[in-house]
Amino acid sequence: MKRISLIVSSLLSIGILFNSVLAAAVEPIKIGFVVKQPEEPWFQDEWKFAEIASKEKGFTLVKIAAQSGEKVMSAIDNLAAQKAQGFVICTPDVKLGPSIVAKAKAHGLKMMTVDDRLVDGSGKPITSVPYMGISASNIGKQAGDSIAAEAIRRGWDLKEVGAIDVSFDQLATSHDRTAAAAEALVAAGVPRANIINAPQAKPDTENAFNAANIALTKNSQFKHWVAFGLNDEAVLGAVRATEGRGIKADNMIGVGVGGSDSALNEFRKPAPTGFFGTVIISPKRHGQETSELVYEWVKTGGAASIDAYQRLARYPQRR
Ligand code: GLA
Repeated sequence: MKRISLIVSSLLSIGILFNSVLAAAVEPIKIGFVVKQPEEPWFQDEWKFAEIASKEKGFTLVKIAAQSGEKVMSAIDNLAAQKAQGFVICTPDVKLGPSIVAKAKAHGLKMMTVDDRLVDGSGKPITSVPYMGISASNIGKQAGDSIAAEAIRRGWDLKEVGAIDVSFDQLATSHDRTAAAAEALVAAGVPRANIINAPQAKPDTENAFNAANIALTKNSQFKHWVAFGLNDEAVLGAVRATEGRGIKADNMIGVGVGGSDSALNEFRKPAPTGFFGTVIISPKRHGQETSELVYEWVKTGGAASIDAYQRLARYPQRR
């Protein structure tokens, strides 16, 4: 009797083992990659690198565009419905942090954030969620320093320079970049009063254009112009606004952040524009490394690995 039950149980365990091996064979790991602005070349590049990771590691990648909070919530439901095990996300609104965390948890999905960090109800970063970001203030300082260097090279009197600060302060990534750019200009000799806040309603070129136009209308006293912002799109908006007012490239210095096609297309134009330069940041780590981290995390499972990956993922990218 004893022998028979032993044989039965070992047969059962072979059966179970066989089934789970079979399940693993037919259902590869599936990872989502949710981005806030799919039309922006930066995010297309992140997706491109995530695809490279999926090919190299052999997981299925599900790319989802989520331009609103509602879309983020349905994206997570959608990923759970198609049996994904985890996802990387750059959300359109970091204040959705607690709801995103709760939804991912309810579905048992592993989650990592990229570019913009989730915040809690009081605006503090949610540090329990793995995050890969960039040193925003270093980047902003670099943009400000290069604008100042070019203005000085052109022989401008910095007191006659109006600086358009295309801001989007509700996003820490943006605030930290523009604040550091403004400080770099002030340190170089641009009077603080010449820094003109031009808040964008949404972080895209159209809204940056509108914000910069208002700044220009209210400040016609300046002889020369410069602009900085969250990314290339923000600075392109300011450059288009100066062009609309007849301010030529030799009188405008815009330096963006990104270095993807938004900036490169501008540099490809036959005549230089007021878009003078860009601080290059790399979407490779953000797209490829984050999705690989979530993949490895799903593959190895277990609570112990979470900490390790969080530590790894928090290393900021510096350029
Ligand atoms: C933010 C910006 C993007 C890009 C990323 C880089 O998300 O909105 O344009 O600069 O940061 O991390």
